[in-house]
Amino acid sequence: MRLGGILKIKLIEDTLAQQLLASASAATSLSHVPYSNFPVGAAVLGKSGRIYQGINIENASYPAGICAERVALGCACSNGEDGIVAIAIFSPKGDISPCGICRQFILEFGESIVVVFHWNGKVVQCRARELLPYAFTKEHLK
Ligand code: THU
Repeated sequence: MRLGGILKIKLIEDTLAQQLLASASAATSLSHVPYSNFPVGAAVLGKSGRIYQGINIENASYPAGICAERVALGCACSNGEDGIVAIAIFSPKGDISPCGICRQFILEFGESIVVVFHWNGKVVQCRARELLPYAFTKEHLK
């Protein structure tokens, strides 16, 4: 697929990407979005093969809200998952890609994690590192 002139390659099988997007989509029925009315769901595929769902959860104190990606990754971590393979993000409102904080959060668990989302009506697959060039990581803390 070509996107913005750059050749995009398939990193995981289409069927798996679609399964993760469907899981992220299903999760949005539980999104807590009284302020934005913008539901987001995420589905994390762990190395164990388990899938962990997350939803965005907003708060009356707006900055206290949390994105679906971080909820899903927190769910994977707190269930003892020892590696992340991929994460899909979905909103019924249309195109979405991980926000800046979520890009940083995803990268923490591996620069090769495959991130799947809809963009310009197409399914995009990319590596976490592609979403955050010049990233600050644990390497900088050594
Ligand atoms: N949101 C996510 O859940 N993930 C993102 O990566 C982008 C934004 C949520 C946060 C808020 O609840 C709503 O979308 C509108 O910004």
